[in-house]
Amino acid sequence: MFIGEAPGADEDIQGEPFVGRAGQLLTNMIKAMGLRREDVYIANIIKCRPPGNRTPERDECETCSPFLFRQIEAIKPKVIVALGAVAAKTLLAMNSSMGELRGRWYDFRNTKLAVTYHPAFLLRDPRQKKETWKDLQMVMKELGLALPKQMVE
Ligand code: URA
Repeated sequence: MFIGEAPGADEDIQGEPFVGRAGQLLTNMIKAMGLRREDVYIANIIKCRPPGNRTPERDECETCSPFLFRQIEAIKPKVIVALGAVAAKTLLAMNSSMGELRGRWYDFRNTKLAVTYHPAFLLRDPRQKKETWKDLQMVMKELGLALPKQMVE
């Protein structure tokens, strides 16, 4: 299960998470792991598009997260990948930087949780794709998926 931040304009129109440009990159990340989008569940912390695409406020994350927690309970994912700081900080209740949060496993209510960079951030800073690929390989190892393939652009 991948968990992002909030719907953007495309997601708001289509009513589906990660269907815009960041979603295309997420799809490629999923494919590079040897999976298809149908194999994974994708959700957001925030269920409505924040005005002007601003970063969600903490109280907005707290208001929406019970819905996400119900999704997690229903899906019972093998592992959770938190995409970006909003997802990671909300799920882990930690205020560390992305650099500190990523690269290791956490426990979220008895489910293993990994943190990696948000695809929208990777579109702005593609140099971080290499580090992201390391995080995804950690997840692949846990899931018993074959290593390695190259992450597609
Ligand atoms: N960014 C997100 O965090 N979620 C989406 O659904 C789309 C872009």
